[in-house]
Amino acid sequence: LVAAMVEVEETYIMIKPDGVQRGLVGEIISRFEKKGFKLTGLKLFQCPKELAQEHYKDLQSKPFFPKLIDYITSGPVVCMAWEGVGVVASARKLIGATNPLNAEPGTIRGDLAVQTGRNVVHGSDSPENGKREIALWFKEEELCEWAPVQEPWLK
Ligand code: TYD
Repeated sequence: LVAAMVEVEETYIMIKPDGVQRGLVGEIISRFEKKGFKLTGLKLFQCPKELAQEHYKDLQSKPFFPKLIDYITSGPVVCMAWEGVGVVASARKLIGATNPLNAEPGTIRGDLAVQTGRNVVHGSDSPENGKREIALWFKEEELCEWAPVQEPWLK
């Protein structure tokens, strides 16, 4: 009933190039699936520089910005849209702290990463940014609104 207070939201989750190249795609997707969220968008994508800059525009003035853009565009990323009750904050919890050395064991970054600049995964930090980022990374026709069918899949 507490969950009823929290709205169904959408969040943008992205497996960064190190996550793809280290073979962590299945492991990372699996954590969101097992938690119980619904996948509504998924693609492997080589991100152009302009898109990376737009995605991280709030960090433009930071000294690490150029390196961040090089990193995100260094190889394909896996773009995902996930939907669920309280999914934005919950996904941030599953992901763990920005600096993997501060991320708790059991979180994605806590279990799988070491450096802030190689922290394997991104998750939107607010419902507004969830919407903004999904619209930025996906075309409308790449997203699926779906509901589970009533029939059992295995008989
Ligand atoms: P930020 O939005 O602060 O963190 P998060 O990804 O946890 O929401 O920063 C975005 C990314 O920028 C972060 O995942 C890794 C990179 N970054 C650095 O490379 N160095 C830094 O000092 C910080 C704060 C972030």
